[in-house]
Amino acid sequence: MNILLLGSGGRENALAWKMQQSHHCSQLFIAPGNAGTAAYGTNVTLATLDFEAIKQFCIDNKIQLVVVGPEEPLVKGIYDFLKNANELKNIIIVAPSASASQLEGSKSFAKEFMQKNNIPTAAYAEFTIENYEQGKTYLQQHSLPIVLKADGLAAGKGVVICNTLSEALISFEEMIVNKQFGNASAKVVVEEFLQGIEVSVFALTNGKDYQIIGHAKDYKRIGEGDTGLNTGGMGCVSPVPFMDEIFMQKVEEKIVKPTIQGFQNDHLIYDGFVFFGLMNCNGEPYVIEYNCRLGDPETEVILPRLETDLVSLFAAMDNGTLEDANIEYNEGYFATVMAVSGGYPGEYKKDVPISDLSKIEMEKTSFIFHAGTKLDAENNLVTNGGRVMAITSQGNSIKEAVDKSKQILSQIHFDGMYFRKDIGYEFE
Ligand code: AMP
Ligand code: GLY
Repeated sequence: MNILLLGSGGRENALAWKMQQSHHCSQLFIAPGNAGTAAYGTNVTLATLDFEAIKQFCIDNKIQLVVVGPEEPLVKGIYDFLKNANELKNIIIVAPSASASQLEGSKSFAKEFMQKNNIPTAAYAEFTIENYEQGKTYLQQHSLPIVLKADGLAAGKGVVICNTLSEALISFEEMIVNKQFGNASAKVVVEEFLQGIEVSVFALTNGKDYQIIGHAKDYKRIGEGDTGLNTGGMGCVSPVPFMDEIFMQKVEEKIVKPTIQGFQNDHLIYDGFVFFGLMNCNGEPYVIEYNCRLGDPETEVILPRLETDLVSLFAAMDNGTLEDANIEYNEGYFATVMAVSGGYPGEYKKDVPISDLSKIEMEKTSFIFHAGTKLDAENNLVTNGGRVMAITSQGNSIKEAVDKSKQILSQIHFDGMYFRKDIGYEFE
């Protein structure tokens, strides 16, 4: 199969690495990719939102499988656009339809979906300028902390956890009246705060059948001991010791199955990944959010753990045999540690030279996935984003896996480079 993968982060580097191992993979193209994806296929200069150019590329290059990494093209309707093209009727597109992608694109849509399908989630109410005054009264009566969420996509910044009423009232005004996130915050979901440990579960589905393909715990804060600002993710571990059979069975029965049934009930066309962002509250799973794609850096930990051929799974998703697929995992524990640019998640420099990676000594059970990297005009590897590189390793314990990744990181250098040294700390 000729495959086109859309995206340019660590997630896409891990997807390219995994798909390229499949005997089903003939040619792999990554658009736009990064310096790491180039090792597994051909990077092509196509913007992920330029649907017309993507369609033409698929036709010209006889693409049979399109895998969409990031959320924006999903929410903007890439699935529907490509499926509507006569020439592309038979290609496999790993992406939910635009209407199904609202599960990620609209918090209000996701909450209503969960309520309708009895999926455990935090209690909520939603407000716009129309019922703004009512919203203020609602906040005044709410217990603390209060969670405010901009309805639409806000580049991961649309959620504010307010510890005081005055903070909540200010954020509420900022979002609705001052349009802090533009249209995305014209509607705000006000939600109960869930106390627990955040984890994620990943499934592949065709809207009828599904397979769980992994789970992970990620570390979102920039500082050690889970302190400081939120980031896109500083590291991950998988499997997670407390996500045992009993917990995963609850996830499957109370969350995954009702979600897939909900797709059926609402006629939502869904070919792709579901990322269940969960809170484990004393052993009970609640959904915090749905994403319609794989996570980053979760992908960098779940794909090395997944033994099963991913391209075969996409074919099974397409031909209705997903239910019969065998999901196998590699042994041991996997840990990803993310190296980021100095200053991230605030301002940071780009184009910072990265030391020669070819000199690194590493075992076959470790992987370097590029995130924000590129080759400059002189073909030197330089930084090109906040999150620069994800180092994943396999070990007999989480600690061993993390230590292996840190050992590799000790051989990598760029000015300002930072990584958390305590990923997986609670499992030591
Ligand atoms: P999101 O943008 O939906 O991923 O939310 C950002 C982060 O806010 C999540 O990863 C959680 O850490 C936190 N969060 C969201 N909703 C809740 C909630 N109801 N209770 C506690 N924490 C939450
Ligand atoms: N790591 C969280 C995300 O991909 O949204």
